[in-house]
Amino acid sequence: MVSRVIPVDPFDLVIFGSTGDLAQRKILPALFRRFCAGQWPEEVQIIGAARAAYDPEGFRGIVAESLRSHAPAQCQDIGSLNAFLQRVDYVSLDALTDEGWDQLAERLTVDRVRGFYFSVGPRLFGPLAERIKSHDLATLHTRIVVEKPFGHDLESARALNATLAAHFSEGQIYRIDHYLGKETVQNLMAVRFGNMLFEPLWNSQYVDHIQITVAESVGIAGREEYYDRAGAMRDMMQNHLMQLLCLIAMEPPAKFDPDAVRDEKLKVIRALDPVEPHHIVRGQFEGGANGPGYREVVGNPRSTTESYVALRAHVSNWRWAGTPFYLRTGKRLVARSSVINVMFKDAPHSIFGADAGRHANVLSIRLQPNEGITLKVTIKEPGQGGMRLVDVPLDMSFAEALGSESQDPPDAYERLVMDVIRGNQTLFMRGDEVEAAWAWTDPIIAGWQARGDVPKPYESGSTGPGDAELLMKRDGRRWQGINP
Ligand code: BG6
Repeated sequence: MVSRVIPVDPFDLVIFGSTGDLAQRKILPALFRRFCAGQWPEEVQIIGAARAAYDPEGFRGIVAESLRSHAPAQCQDIGSLNAFLQRVDYVSLDALTDEGWDQLAERLTVDRVRGFYFSVGPRLFGPLAERIKSHDLATLHTRIVVEKPFGHDLESARALNATLAAHFSEGQIYRIDHYLGKETVQNLMAVRFGNMLFEPLWNSQYVDHIQITVAESVGIAGREEYYDRAGAMRDMMQNHLMQLLCLIAMEPPAKFDPDAVRDEKLKVIRALDPVEPHHIVRGQFEGGANGPGYREVVGNPRSTTESYVALRAHVSNWRWAGTPFYLRTGKRLVARSSVINVMFKDAPHSIFGADAGRHANVLSIRLQPNEGITLKVTIKEPGQGGMRLVDVPLDMSFAEALGSESQDPPDAYERLVMDVIRGNQTLFMRGDEVEAAWAWTDPIIAGWQARGDVPKPYESGSTGPGDAELLMKRDGRRWQGINP
């Protein structure tokens, strides 16, 4: 497969929080990969900005170090690395004072796309936006990129939106949910809207239910403070899983353009029913062979924050009335596995008799690892013995079907950062979308607080609390396995 790289014009990208984990582990390696792919020209400037008092050379040393560990093998040659580093500069500045801002202003180029990446905690979003404006750094071609968490609840998300809106138009604000940049997530739209095969069946008449699983084997080490305030509901469900649900459930947009897509996603969120308390299971991992339990990790023996959540959601509209969506996500589970399973209904009548058993088609969209799509179909078991039916997968592993490039799919940040430069907001969340997601999430969390809900313990390395199985069992269903 030949990859098409569409070069972009020269741009300046300022990364606030450039010495932090996200910048070093994701943003800079993503830029480096795009540089190696030949997507951007020599004149580009990447300007790291943070409080730390490095000179540009010192900063380049840190970047080189992290690129060595986080960039892929094909861009590890010293020539590429040095050429990239020549594009990297650094300014030491303070978001809360005027210190360093004049130096930043001097570095910026007139008349080109200017991106400001806020890879910092949300409390600095407002001050940064203000200073960009008061130092006259915002031009017509300026875009700001805002990382999650975008608020802690509806009220704080509204306040953040208002702060940013005081300085920038919605068309300049890029709210990142990195799940939208994942290759298979984009493929979900290609599969749904690029094929005739699925869309006619994509509704409650044919789909029994949908399962969305984002399982992680990692814990929360290094982010204890943030996580204990957030929990799985805020950290994963309100954004990543909700976005996946939107893409699965939305109506076909008239075109693949930012507002058309985001309007349809917003309608899905607004059509979500409130979740009944008995349709939610919260869990917290216990200690085991692979490490200490949640409470020990966060250093709070009474923490009631959930590291796992499973719930049953309903999208109340014509397409989905009667088809539940089961969503689950958790830390320290048996494997890292993100998959969406569209579980079709049984055939209405079995001509093969009761002995043939029940068979239903399942469309599995694997986000990670082993990106691909599988459709389980029922066939006759080969050989003698009458009409015995068996379910077999029609498997399209992207790596096998599309060759070497898809074995190493681009990281979500590569796509998203380049979309910022290209000025394409399709894969970014609009302010009203984020607020609607919080409006759905807030009452769930408020309910837990009011009831003094305590999460169910689950064994580290398991599939989560037993109650999550019951959530399905009560409905006569069961989760598909969590397979790496
Ligand atoms: C982040 C969450 O947004 O997504 C983390 O804050 C989580 O808790 C991560 O681990 C998962 O991302 P990915 O791309 O590894 O599935």
